[in-house]
Amino acid sequence: MKDLLRTSTSLVEGIENILNLQAKIESDASNKYLAMAAWLDRNGYANTASYLYKQAEEEREHFLKVFKYITDMGGIAVTPSVPEVQQEFASFREVFEIALQNEIAVTQSINKVIAKCRAENDYATEDFMMWYVAEQREEEKNARRALELFELINGNEADGKFQLDVQISKIG
Ligand code: FEO
Repeated sequence: MKDLLRTSTSLVEGIENILNLQAKIESDASNKYLAMAAWLDRNGYANTASYLYKQAEEEREHFLKVFKYITDMGGIAVTPSVPEVQQEFASFREVFEIALQNEIAVTQSINKVIAKCRAENDYATEDFMMWYVAEQREEEKNARRALELFELINGNEADGKFQLDVQISKIG
C-alpha cells in the first residue's frame, strides 16, 4: 500500500530533486544567518544579532515548508547535510554585503525551480513556489535596505555603529 501511494505521486523525479536542492539551500541559509548573528553578538551588535537570529529561524521555516511539501506530494524528502559556513567577517558591513549576495543567490535558485515546474507542466509546485517568490522580494529588499543604512549612517564612528545596530534591527 505504501509503495502504491509513493508511485502514485504526481511529483516527477526532476522536480523532487530540485525541491530537495532548494530545501538544502534554505537550510544552509539558516545556518549562514546563525553564524552571522553569533559574530554580531560577540562584536557588540546585540540588536542586529537578534534580527539575524530571527532571520535564521525564518530560513529554517522556509526549509521545513519545502521539506514537508515534498512529503505531502508523495515524494522523498532528504534531510540535508550540514556544510561548514563562514564564521568570521571582516566588518559589520561585510555581514550585510554577504547577506544580500546570499539572498540574490536564493532568488536565482527559486527561479530555476519555477522554470523546471513550467518545463514539466507541474502547476501545483509552481503555485506552491509563488509564496517563495513573494518572500524573496521582501528579503532582498530588506537586505538592500541594510546596506543603504551603511551609506546613510557613518558606520566608522562609534556613534554611527551604535545607530546602525539600532536601525538595521528595525528593518522589515
Ligand atoms: Fe529563504 Fe531568504 O531565503
